[in-house]
Amino acid sequence: METPWKKKKATIPDFLERKRSGPKITMMTAYDCAFASLVDSVDIDMILVGDSGAMTTLGYETTIPVTMEEMLFMARAVSKGARNTFLIGDMPFLSYEVSVERAVENAGRFIKEAGMDAAKLEGGRRTAPVVQAIVRAGIPVMGHIGLTPQSLSQLGGFRVQGKDVDSARAVVEDALALQDAGAFAIVVEAVPAPVGRMITEAIKVPTIGIGAGPDCDGQVLVLHDMLGLFERFTPKFVKRYVSLGAAAREALAQFAAEVRGGSFPAPEHCYTMKAEQAEELRETLVHAGLLR
Ligand code: KIV
Repeated sequence: METPWKKKKATIPDFLERKRSGPKITMMTAYDCAFASLVDSVDIDMILVGDSGAMTTLGYETTIPVTMEEMLFMARAVSKGARNTFLIGDMPFLSYEVSVERAVENAGRFIKEAGMDAAKLEGGRRTAPVVQAIVRAGIPVMGHIGLTPQSLSQLGGFRVQGKDVDSARAVVEDALALQDAGAFAIVVEAVPAPVGRMITEAIKVPTIGIGAGPDCDGQVLVLHDMLGLFERFTPKFVKRYVSLGAAAREALAQFAAEVRGGSFPAPEHCYTMKAEQAEELRETLVHAGLLR
């Protein structure tokens, strides 16, 4: 008999080893129990409960309005569905900028209240002191540099970062600052592929790329983008592996047509009762004045 595949939750030392000798690290976002358990059932190393859930799941226009409570709500659901995958909670806007104390407390809530293994936050040199304080409190931190959606207006919108030598150097310096602050891995978003490669070469902790080329130590995609469930816009770096949105729309339209046309529910979807019992029930209800 074939032995069923048993997934083993990866650890931070595993990720550091994977940078040295491969294979590449895989990360996917998830925001609820159902999809988290799907991700957990395949060989994907990390789940990020991203603040992208603000847009994919909670219906906000951007990631800015999502609150710590909403992030914890999604993270709790994910941890129930994914017991064998390394889990990361994404710190929402203003949960780590107001004070270092508040940042440590909020990062800790992901671990204590939502079953996450680590916290992620955006920013490089700017947030390095906060990363250092959270790591000192015993909470693993993943950094996020390049295009950082919580600073969209400062960055001038969804734009590739590090396109010239000076700005690319600044992104490399961000990566080094996060490494020195103790981050165990760094998401690098929307930079030219050569910049992704040089950041990866410059630091000892793994880079997880999204629109940062093939040479990062790992790759991440937003679940709803790759499944075709988020259709408002599709960044260049997204590969859509399946069109679940289109398939869902077709199924929903078919349900509505079948209900209206009387073909659903069919006999195989119905519970039965003996004909004489049904007749007796009718007579009882009519006699009681409950049915005419
Ligand atoms: O919120 C998110 O999903 C992210 C990924 C794009 C890395 O930060």
